[in-house]
Amino acid sequence: MRVLSGIQSSGKLHLGNYLGAMKQHIELQHEHECFFFIANYHSLTTVQDAALQREYTRDVAVDYLALGLDPKKACLFRQSDVPEVCELTWILSTVTGKGLLERATSYKDKVAKGIMPTMGLFTYPILMAADILIYRSDLVPVGKDQVQHIEMAQDMATHFNETYGREVLKRPEPRLNEALVVPGLDGQKMSKSYGNTINLFDPPQEQRKRVMSIKTDSTPVEAPKNPDTCNVFALYRLMAEPREVAELEAAYRRGGFGYGEAKKRLADVVERVLGPARERRARLVADGGYLEDVLAASAKKARALAGEVMTDVREACGVITTSA
Ligand code: TRP
Repeated sequence: MRVLSGIQSSGKLHLGNYLGAMKQHIELQHEHECFFFIANYHSLTTVQDAALQREYTRDVAVDYLALGLDPKKACLFRQSDVPEVCELTWILSTVTGKGLLERATSYKDKVAKGIMPTMGLFTYPILMAADILIYRSDLVPVGKDQVQHIEMAQDMATHFNETYGREVLKRPEPRLNEALVVPGLDGQKMSKSYGNTINLFDPPQEQRKRVMSIKTDSTPVEAPKNPDTCNVFALYRLMAEPREVAELEAAYRRGGFGYGEAKKRLADVVERVLGPARERRARLVADGGYLEDVLAASAKKARALAGEVMTDVREACGVITTSA
């Protein structure tokens, strides 16, 4: 199976990115042929400052490697290192009805949040379909909010193939990430745009402070507590060992155990999981040459594959280029 997914370079990565996506990506590298990329063309829809764009692009790459992505196993590259993806975006746009894009809930949500309704934001799902189809991906691990985009990519593959009467593009399947919802400090989905994140690589004291500020209900210390409705417990369940989770659950149900204590345990687990990655990250940042080498080698591999698919695409629709 060929697995592909992308993460936008649109800000500092947080626990929601890790638990909701990157952790699964890193596990999948052992089972499948994997392609993970930094969606920097996509993030131009929200990050329009060159220095920040560069910084966030580098951050996604460094964070993936620090968290355990092995560049010998998985291909980790920048979207913009395969510019053919923009060519495919155009070609797909000519077989995609405007109505399909008008139904995209993610576009409407983003506009409702105040993001500028540019053509880039509107046609974002076509670029995403091109990302997927240009590598003939089988499986696309994503969160729930991205499933509609995968369905659109399926539709676009079918439309293209039907229009040109050949099976050129492969229909991908979504694979839902295990952690469907990672709650943020306020209990809403953890998201940069809600300002409720615990960033992966903030200093430990800052992370601890954020954990201590997670919203809980006002059940008194002595009373038994419901783990299933508690944001602290939800995060702990995603990060701690099963034995620890069972212990904390028992303490909640027993009572006489306050949320402050639960938060301390969560902060300890966060540090246990991220501490070693923080050290690896510092070494990677110090050795920028290594990072560039990894990205360049991966881009070469990805681009070669994309080039083959584009040859078939151009051939199918009768577009001639002499340079490719
Ligand atoms: N839209 C995805 C997100 O915001 C990022 C993305 C871009 C992506 N291209 C992709 C994910 C292709 C999977 C496959 O999370």
